[in-house]
Amino acid sequence: MPSDLTALRAAVLARTDRRRRLHVLGVAQEIDTLALRWGADRGQAARAALLHDVTKGLAPAEQLKLCAKYDIVTQSWERGEHKLMHAVTGAAVARFEFGMEEAVCDAVRWHTTGRAGMTLLEKILYLADYVDATRAFPEVRALRDLCYEDLNAALLRGLDLTIRLLLAERRTIHPDTLSARNALL
Ligand SMILES: [Fe+2]
Ligand SMILES: [Fe+2]
Repeated sequence: MPSDLTALRAAVLARTDRRRRLHVLGVAQEIDTLALRWGADRGQAARAALLHDVTKGLAPAEQLKLCAKYDIVTQSWERGEHKLMHAVTGAAVARFEFGMEEAVCDAVRWHTTGRAGMTLLEKILYLADYVDATRAFPEVRALRDLCYEDLNAALLRGLDLTIRLLLAERRTIHPDTLSARNALL
């Protein structure tokens, strides 16, 4: 691992609680094998994985402070969804505090909802986050296998699982998630 990646890892882990640290390292491991399998840039993949949840541990008020600081405009219903906020604020922190390139920031930005026309890096971060070693939902092994066989089919299945869960829990389905799914059909 090059030293800049080692420094990034240390900086990110220092602001991450222990439980989430295991997840972040799991995502970094999974995305590396996915990057090798599908020919993505391994350095970018590693940076995106390390930073993807960098603001997830922050309280909603802290998230809103970051939105104000970085001029992030959010829909009112997004503000109530902590899961959606951390992707947006995480991308801003990746850009302005860690100086990451656009491709890495975009992968962080879209790792929760997905979007239509995702890049390879965005797809492998979305999926690594879904199937890393700390995940234990019933379909995880089958989905992980599919990630290495057919990336778009795996993405479609991940989006379907998410949409089904959100319907079951009567929660908001982000329009970008629907767009991501529809674009794959
Ligand atoms: Fe996340
Ligand atoms: Fe995550």
